[in-house]
Amino acid sequence: MTTISIQRVGYALGARVTGIDLSQPVSEADFARIHDAWLEHQVLVIADQRLGPRELAAFSARFGELDDFSNQSVHHAAEDRHVMLLTNRPQDGKPSKTFNAGQNWHTDQSYSLRPSKGTFVHCLEKPSVGGDTLFANMYLAYESLSPKMREFLDGLEAVHDASLIEGLEKRGPEVVAEFKRLNPPVIHPAVRVHPDTGRRALYVNERVRQFVGLTEAESKPLVQFLCQHSVSPRFSYRHYWSVGDLVFWDNRCLVHMAVGDYDPSEIRHMLRCSGLGDHYGRLRDPAAQPATATPGATAASVQAQVAALRD
Ligand code: SIN
Repeated sequence: MTTISIQRVGYALGARVTGIDLSQPVSEADFARIHDAWLEHQVLVIADQRLGPRELAAFSARFGELDDFSNQSVHHAAEDRHVMLLTNRPQDGKPSKTFNAGQNWHTDQSYSLRPSKGTFVHCLEKPSVGGDTLFANMYLAYESLSPKMREFLDGLEAVHDASLIEGLEKRGPEVVAEFKRLNPPVIHPAVRVHPDTGRRALYVNERVRQFVGLTEAESKPLVQFLCQHSVSPRFSYRHYWSVGDLVFWDNRCLVHMAVGDYDPSEIRHMLRCSGLGDHYGRLRDPAAQPATATPGATAASVQAQVAALRD
């Protein structure tokens, strides 16, 4: 019998789970405790794990259906198509396409009609210093606003635009054009009701261009204020990685950011799964149906770089 224990690692969010080895079968009872803790603490850390791609995918899939990277020509771990490599290690002799993923505050795939439910990252190699990940609690960000501001935001919708992904422009014009074609701007409520906890969370991040009904000029100061407010240190947790950590988080109620503060000649190498969330929101321009990748029409190298931007 396992003796799971859960201790908070941050005041705002984050907890560490001990007493479990995920390479062994996890009972329904243990999984239920972990799932409840995940909903309560938003980010969980399970240290000292040694998981291969199949084991990571098997555990992640207990939270729901996983994104499938097999037709996205992104570097995925050969043993399981649900596992993507988040790495700066060159792949097949070429620079990794995920070397700078997630380097602004965001919630995974909020620029899509099916934003990610949860993300699962297992650290296999890390730089000697840096390469941390930051998280901020969007329940607290919402609850700490004035009643008037909450009321205003409750009636507001935000336009999420994938072209605001940090570092996108470094990818080259062909990749940027294809990525934008596949990901036209979408509209989501500015405040999201979590489907499991029923709590309201701010759903605005650095990939929001404007609010519906407000001009870009009117929206900008509010987006800036909310982005700054929501990632205040008092709502945040910083994860300092150790090899063997599995860290998994709930994208429906937090934002996160990979900090690119490490020596690029050192390796940061992670396995990553992404859980598919609910179908959510609508297209800003209904005529701009999200296109699907057209193999053959687009060079394979462009397709691969576009797929690697899915975070
Ligand atoms: C991400 O999923 O945004 C990447 C997180 C990280 O690499 O720290």
